[in-house]
Amino acid sequence: MSIEFKPIKPHIGAVVHADRSALSDASFPQRCLEALDAHDVLVFPRLGLTDEEQLALTDRLGVRVTFNRKAPGSDAATPGVYQVTLDPKLNAEPEYVLGTFFYHMDGMPIDSIPPPKATLLSARVVVSKGGQTQFASTRAAYEGLPADQKAELEGLRAQHSARSGVRRVFENEEELGKIKLGKAVGQRPLVWTSSSGRKSLLIGETADRVVGMQLAEGRALLERLLEWTAQPDFSYSHEWEKGDLVIWNNCAVLHRVIPYDRNSGRMMHRTSLAGTEAVA
Ligand code: OGA
Ligand code: MN
Repeated sequence: MSIEFKPIKPHIGAVVHADRSALSDASFPQRCLEALDAHDVLVFPRLGLTDEEQLALTDRLGVRVTFNRKAPGSDAATPGVYQVTLDPKLNAEPEYVLGTFFYHMDGMPIDSIPPPKATLLSARVVVSKGGQTQFASTRAAYEGLPADQKAELEGLRAQHSARSGVRRVFENEEELGKIKLGKAVGQRPLVWTSSSGRKSLLIGETADRVVGMQLAEGRALLERLLEWTAQPDFSYSHEWEKGDLVIWNNCAVLHRVIPYDRNSGRMMHRTSLAGTEAVA
């Protein structure tokens, strides 16, 4: 069996060189989860998994989770696989997918179920312009902050909502009001300490204000933290090739996609691993 995890950058990413037989080895899930914890983003170049194989891999890594929201084109697709596409023929309600243009985590820190532990995304149809998926480590970002800034964040909470997660996709409040959205609003710490003791910044598109701070000051803080997190040392941009599989540590990185043409045919297949930890 041959398998090698080759770091992409010191703080984020590894390319997985493995032959197919290595992936079916009994030791693979454990090694993969350890590598995911160490590197946060794992790239499997041109693996070319079928939906069934992607689901089987997801199941071997943990518990598969299917979101309530119906995937566009899901009638035709394998249940459990979410088709990520802006193709107007397949996706008549593109708002959620348009929301992926902005840094976010999958799921939400205030959902009743914990945010997914990891996401698996495979490239079915790639595009020549745009469509890169970018990942930014909220762990490395927290750890890299100077001590005085860490101290300033201690005890601060941000307000999260689904509405905030798609606000930039709409012209105005009226348009935003037309789509069905979870109404939940909740507050979570800006610095999240996971049960492993590691800390990360809990920021991204769903966070709209900082509790107890004036609106502008709070938004400016969230914006600065996001810029800090997205700096080149802490982030990785993946240029997709057909068949690539990327697995990311959903609770330790934010991700976004560079906009692509809605008629380009870009198609990604997504599966999710259930989270084990609610955000306290
Ligand atoms: C998503 C997502 C990124 C991409 O589906 O949640 O963030 O590259 N997708 O399509
Ligand atoms: Mn996403």
